[in-house]
Amino acid sequence: MLPAGAAYKPSGKVMITSADIENHFAADAELLSTGYRREVFLFRNLVVKRIFRGYKRAKDLNYHEWRNYKKISAKLPEELKINFQTVYQVLEAGGQTYLITEAILDDNGKPSRSIEDFGPLRDREFWERLEGVVSFLAEADLCLTDIHRKNVLVRKKERRLIPVIVDYKTMGRDFAPWQIELFFRVGRAGKMYRKYGRMKKEFMAV
Ligand SMILES: Nc1ncnc2c1ncn2[C@@H]1O[C@H](COP(=O)(O)OP(=O)(O)O)[C@@H](O)[C@H]1O
Ligand SMILES: [Mg+2]
Repeated sequence: MLPAGAAYKPSGKVMITSADIENHFAADAELLSTGYRREVFLFRNLVVKRIFRGYKRAKDLNYHEWRNYKKISAKLPEELKINFQTVYQVLEAGGQTYLITEAILDDNGKPSRSIEDFGPLRDREFWERLEGVVSFLAEADLCLTDIHRKNVLVRKKERRLIPVIVDYKTMGRDFAPWQIELFFRVGRAGKMYRKYGRMKKEFMAV
């Protein structure tokens, strides 16, 4: 467990402020993607995730993801750091919350694509690395139960393809507390491995 208060402390140096968002976001941010609950933007070399206005649990969701990231980063071994998008802080501006994260970019400076957008992916090293990520999460009992084709990016770096997890919203029991299998550690890990396995099979086959 994190000590009370630690969960909302920004990681490292504070990079932007609510005033930056209020004064410059509308003009300068570039929309990258729209999900079910959030819009994802590029803004000043960072990625900013904004919950839809009026979404019922709006406030919880970005804070919640930040808390999950802190639990992961507290246990993350050095060699797996490149496989997890860093989350820096949560800001509030104009009645909405903004999650400030690292932008995952390819060597050419463009945002990396998700597995879904990348398409067929037979790179052995890529899947071995992702398997290492999944085993680490299972051993730490911090299972991300929504490892899927949109939540893992394929980063092109020095001629290698590196998997990067960008979505920590669904961890352990929290999003489906009624699912019996998630009561048990082995059930949580099982769910994560099943999703991972399905995705791998599909993208190795196409
Ligand atoms: N840090 C990032 N760097 C580059 N692209 C990202 C990053 N985070 C998310 N994206 C893009 O935005 C999409 C949605 O992001 P995600 O965090 O999964 O939001 P949500 O699921 O809440 O809509 C991803 O599939 C990816 O294409
Ligand atoms: Mg997502």
